[in-house]
Amino acid sequence: MTADFSEETATAVVVDSFARTPDDRLRTVLGALVRHLHGFVREVEPTQAEWEAAIGFLTAVGAMCDDKRQEFILLSDVLGVSMLVDAINHRTPAGATESTVLGPFHVVRSPERVLGDDLADVSEGEPLLVRGRVLDLDGAALAGAAVDVWHADAEGFYDVQKDATPDQDLRGLFHTDEDGRFWFRTVEPSHYPIPDDGPVGDLLRRTKRHPYRPAHIHLIVTADGHVPVTTHVFLDGSPYLDDDTVFGVKRSLVRRVRTEHDADGTPYRVVDFDVTLSGDGRRAAGRG
Ligand code: BEZ
Ligand code: FE
Repeated sequence: MTADFSEETATAVVVDSFARTPDDRLRTVLGALVRHLHGFVREVEPTQAEWEAAIGFLTAVGAMCDDKRQEFILLSDVLGVSMLVDAINHRTPAGATESTVLGPFHVVRSPERVLGDDLADVSEGEPLLVRGRVLDLDGAALAGAAVDVWHADAEGFYDVQKDATPDQDLRGLFHTDEDGRFWFRTVEPSHYPIPDDGPVGDLLRRTKRHPYRPAHIHLIVTADGHVPVTTHVFLDGSPYLDDDTVFGVKRSLVRRVRTEHDADGTPYRVVDFDVTLSGDGRRAAGRG
């Protein structure tokens, strides 16, 4: 007879129960999961009631998920797991634009637009010109690069959060010109709270954390033969730049909105954001 399942034998017994898993990676992942989970339980020594509360919390997180709401990703975000996974998978070579969290709002296909178009189909707010170039690590222009952008409105809501707004407002897919340039018009986004009407919001409130992210515009930039980047441009001066609830801010991604004047002297607001991609063959150590 084998030894009883006990505090002493528990971890080895469960790790061993997966020993015949044919998939090496799955066996490794499960072994680590069991060792770390058991280590956590040994450290915390939860009461039976606390264990039930934990199961209740995870059940509520799952119940909140549907095709427009991903509460597990939000949980991963506020625990810093999303950004840690991102950091491990995108060990960007020096000079390449840094990545940050994708977020849960890239849920509809961005409409193809032409350079100079306005993303604001219906949203109103402070007009903003966004422009930049897509470059390689040597500074050469990447013509025909795809620049997929989306952002929140001046009240801090994405189109998919508003029933009355078409699901392509403040979204666009552009292709750079022969000089690698892209530019589009839009309205200035606001800082905003991540969806906090579910169990993740309850967790933030119980722990005296706020749900806010600083103002930003999301970009996914892809070019043939280059490593794509999922990133943001953060607007300098926005609240929460030092305290993003999902830990997504990187200093290299913050840009100031400036005022320029057209030929008639009319002022306009503009933010410049160049994106540098590394070549496929120069991908840094790491996955992805
Ligand atoms: C976002 O930037 O869209 C986002 C990221 C993480 C959680 C919620 C929203
Ligand atoms: Fe966002």
